[in-house]
Amino acid sequence: MTRILDFDILRHNPRDAASVPRLQRYRLAETSGMTLFIALTRIREELDPGVHFDFVCRAAVCGSCAMLINGRPGLACRTLTATLPAHIRLLPLPGFALIADLSVDTGRWMRVMSERLHAWLHVATAVDLDALETRMDPDRAEAVYELDRCIECGCCVAACGTAQMRPDFVGAVGMIKLARFRLDPRDARDDGDFFDLLGDDDGVFGCMSLLGCQDVCPKSLSLQTQIAHLRWAMARRGLAKAGADHGDGI
Ligand code: SF4
Ligand code: SF4
Ligand code: FES
Repeated sequence: MTRILDFDILRHNPRDAASVPRLQRYRLAETSGMTLFIALTRIREELDPGVHFDFVCRAAVCGSCAMLINGRPGLACRTLTATLPAHIRLLPLPGFALIADLSVDTGRWMRVMSERLHAWLHVATAVDLDALETRMDPDRAEAVYELDRCIECGCCVAACGTAQMRPDFVGAVGMIKLARFRLDPRDARDDGDFFDLLGDDDGVFGCMSLLGCQDVCPKSLSLQTQIAHLRWAMARRGLAKAGADHGDGI
């Protein structure tokens, strides 16, 4: 029997002084293989052209369509309505600036975080574009590019208690970005450099290890392992630094 789905969607435009946040209900008949992306597109085409939500790829690649789905961060394009009850509540991801309705500005957040963490390759010598590509051990390359699968959707930040309480916390996404460059043999930085970027309560030592991030990551990245390993390395580096400072002072 065809289910009738009720969608309660947060409606709010923060740039309109008269806008009051409210839940608006839309009703659709479920179709076979319906995703939340399909449902939202139908709502916009058939019921209300004013509903804001983001998408680009429709294939869990761009990270644009992340939202709170019955309280849990996830991608609208990869969530089948068949996996949800008939009453579905959709809210924008918390922790990011609201653009309107279900659309949030994850891009600005990711840019600020990336600039703060210097999340790009730091090579020791100038790149020679005419030289042959440097070989990389295949296992190492696989580990590096596994972490590059992050799509910057923001689900891990939205699920993170620390990120909600501490606006400067870099989140699991920030930590795995530096874990990725720490693994990359082309990156000239050492653990002292990474400690300066991550070795405080806005970085690895602010993480409470409750792993909400790993539970919701749509790319199933090994956030738990990466964060634990990074914290161990940064703690070791911090202890060495404290010992050296203490020795200097004696
Ligand atoms: S780590 Fe996972 S949840 Fe976080 S931004 Fe990347 S893909 Fe999204
Ligand atoms: S394990 Fe750390 S980064 Fe992940 S959700 Fe918890 S506090 Fe946030
Ligand atoms: S539309 Fe690109 S991840 Fe959903």
